[in-house]
Amino acid sequence: MKNVEGKVAFITGGASGMGLGMARAFAKAGMKVMIGDIEAEPAKKAADELKGKGLDAASVQVDVSKLESVQAAADTTIDTFGKVHVVCNNAGIAVGGYSETCNMRNWNWVVDVNLWGVVYGLQAFVPKILEQDEGGHVVSTASMAGMVGLRGAGPYNATKFAVVGMMETFAADHRKHNIEASVLCPGIVATNIGHSGRNRPEEYGGVVQPSEKDRTAEMLAQGLDPDIVGDLVLEAIQENQFYIFTDPSLKHLIETRCERIIAGYDWATNCKSLKGAKQAGGLPG
Ligand SMILES: NC(=O)c1ccc[n+]([C@@H]2O[C@H](COP(=O)([O-])OP(=O)(O)OC[C@H]3O[C@@H](n4cnc5c(N)ncnc54)[C@H](O)[C@@H]3O)[C@@H](O)[C@H]2O)c1
Repeated sequence: MKNVEGKVAFITGGASGMGLGMARAFAKAGMKVMIGDIEAEPAKKAADELKGKGLDAASVQVDVSKLESVQAAADTTIDTFGKVHVVCNNAGIAVGGYSETCNMRNWNWVVDVNLWGVVYGLQAFVPKILEQDEGGHVVSTASMAGMVGLRGAGPYNATKFAVVGMMETFAADHRKHNIEASVLCPGIVATNIGHSGRNRPEEYGGVVQPSEKDRTAEMLAQGLDPDIVGDLVLEAIQENQFYIFTDPSLKHLIETRCERIIAGYDWATNCKSLKGAKQAGGLPG
């Protein structure tokens, strides 16, 4: 989408971190921005900040883990701005722990927000973009944890790999429909994700207060400025770039993973069990 001026964007998790960075970058580029977030007050504050600069923005409270809530936010976006062209499924939470011992309420929380949240964004917005027939762009936020396995982060990894796979398929499915797609895979960015527990609803165990000596928060504070990520996402939308990486120095992690996968294929090529076996070949790509 080369020309973004006057286009309407909806961003989940837009009250903080990278979502807020996107809201700022998009509004500065002349877009109309609907900031969606589970935290109503910070979302309104973010919209007020942009409106105070003469930019076009509004906010809506949305819980991405609930389909009805995302559908209501889609309706509010259309009621407010008349259209929608760009959707950023960005809201997410971090849960640490091993897949086999992470408590099930945290497992469900991370899946409900990080995976179902993206699915609901597609369900609520894509039919509207298609019906409008003016083109569009969907950006879903995964992570480098959607590219490589990170020790001690099984549940989070699972959701982010799922988002990468879903968006690869989405991009292929909509190539002919004038809807472009990107998947954002950040490295470490200086946001509030380390304090995700501030938003944990009762059904998943309730709010978690940040600890005084929080090593994750300290590490995140060293990360990239989220406003730069906002600019980067805008540039990717304008240049129709699918994979959006924020830290080129991490390329070796992806190279190592690809090498290990190819080694697996080489092993299969030479193994005894598959020698001479009949194969179907071909997959819908
Ligand atoms: N910060 C990093 O280093 C990093 C790295 C890789 C990926 N990510 C991903 O980036 C995305 C944005 O996170 P961030 O780092 O900017 O963190 P952040 O905590 O600063 O922002 C996340 C926003 O999402 C909102 N949110 C949480 N649960 C929600 C829900 N159920 N419905 C709607 N909004 C909800 C929060 O209120 C917050 O405003 C997430 O998907 C995260 O997994 C972050």
